[in-house]
Amino acid sequence: MKTILITGGAGFIGSHVVRLFVNKYPDYQIVNLDKLTYAGNLENLKDIENAPNYIFEKGDIVDESCISQLFDRYQFDGVVHLAAESHVDRSITNPMEFIMTNVVGTVNLLNAARNLWKGKEKGKLFYHVSTDEVYGSLGQTGFFLEDTPYDPQSPYSSSKASSDHFVRAYGNTYSLPYVISNCSNNYGENQFPEKLLPLFINNIRYNKALPVYGDGLFTRDWLYVVDHARAIDLIYHKGKQGDTYNIGGFNEWKNIDLIKLLCKVMDEKLGREQGSAEKLITYVKDRPGHDKRYAIDAGKINKELGWEPSLQFEEGLSKTVDWYLNNQEWLDRVTSGEYQNYYKEQYS
Ligand code: NAD
Ligand code: TYD
Repeated sequence: MKTILITGGAGFIGSHVVRLFVNKYPDYQIVNLDKLTYAGNLENLKDIENAPNYIFEKGDIVDESCISQLFDRYQFDGVVHLAAESHVDRSITNPMEFIMTNVVGTVNLLNAARNLWKGKEKGKLFYHVSTDEVYGSLGQTGFFLEDTPYDPQSPYSSSKASSDHFVRAYGNTYSLPYVISNCSNNYGENQFPEKLLPLFINNIRYNKALPVYGDGLFTRDWLYVVDHARAIDLIYHKGKQGDTYNIGGFNEWKNIDLIKLLCKVMDEKLGREQGSAEKLITYVKDRPGHDKRYAIDAGKINKELGWEPSLQFEEGLSKTVDWYLNNQEWLDRVTSGEYQNYYKEQYS
């Protein structure tokens, strides 16, 4: 029986990874460590919370003694590290939180793994989940490859880039077995409604303004979250140690085109007259230092590991909208309380 630590498992992507590992590997013991910040929600894991191979531990990766005690207790064979502060806009208002969790928290985990695995690294793995934003911003053409030089532009992407460097440094200096993946923008069920798609779905539902930053011509490459979880599973089990894999959806959209498509889908699903949602589009002040374009070349994971997205984007978007409309209580619960203050500060 292997014991695997998944950090940030109560968050958006983490919850999909935990579900996949718990269901697919009954012979693994999965320990989900999460601080349950505003973005962590155990409701995301209701369907597996009583599984015999699943354990939840509430804790902060920044807390060194909590982490070392956890490694002592469980003697982990592997780590899949997703816990992070993940929203660019929040990193602009509070960079220090990002440095603490994303950099210091990652180094705490690396130290604990290094101490536990010293001299018996065989069969162990530290999997660090990262983002394509570490590569910076592209012009009209070109793609991010695994060897694209790092050029992070926001406090968020800088903290993730820093954590990636620490993981590689521990591999190089202490022979810590690791793998890193850098993924493009995810969408799907259980994403906190501060990110573009769930925010706009919720606003359309309540006929609230859709705040499009700047000219709306920023481009992102969108991937369905379950396909990201599948890629993580594949890389964890079949990836080459010390390697990096880019993961993307082969699916670039300019924000404004994506928003218009979403408006159309929402009008259809809500039985509203076509064009109703588009009227809510409101151009607002741009995000400072807003990256123009991200686009991933996912050729390596496709060729080496045979991974490809399982869903066409239109199908994934429709499924995602259905989920939010059928889970209004989830949305209402996470958008009450503290969320209201964030919203006021961000969009006033
Ligand atoms: P999220 O914000 O939805 O979830 C983050 C989770 O980490 C939450 O459950 C939160 O409670 C937990 N957490 C935060 N600080 C913690 C701490 N100090 N100790 C323990 N737990 C803590 O984020 P997400 O979108 O699911 O992203 C997960 C990972 O994937 C992140 O590392 C992110 O950088 C990366 N990533 C995200 C995307 C995306 O599009 N969302 C794309 C590529 C990579
Ligand atoms: P987001 O979901 O925050 O992801 P990221 O910044 O990590 O790519 O934003 C996706 C795109 O949508 C990005 O170009 C910023 C833009 N955006 C808006 O125009 N309005 C908004 O209210 C938000 C949250 C994002």
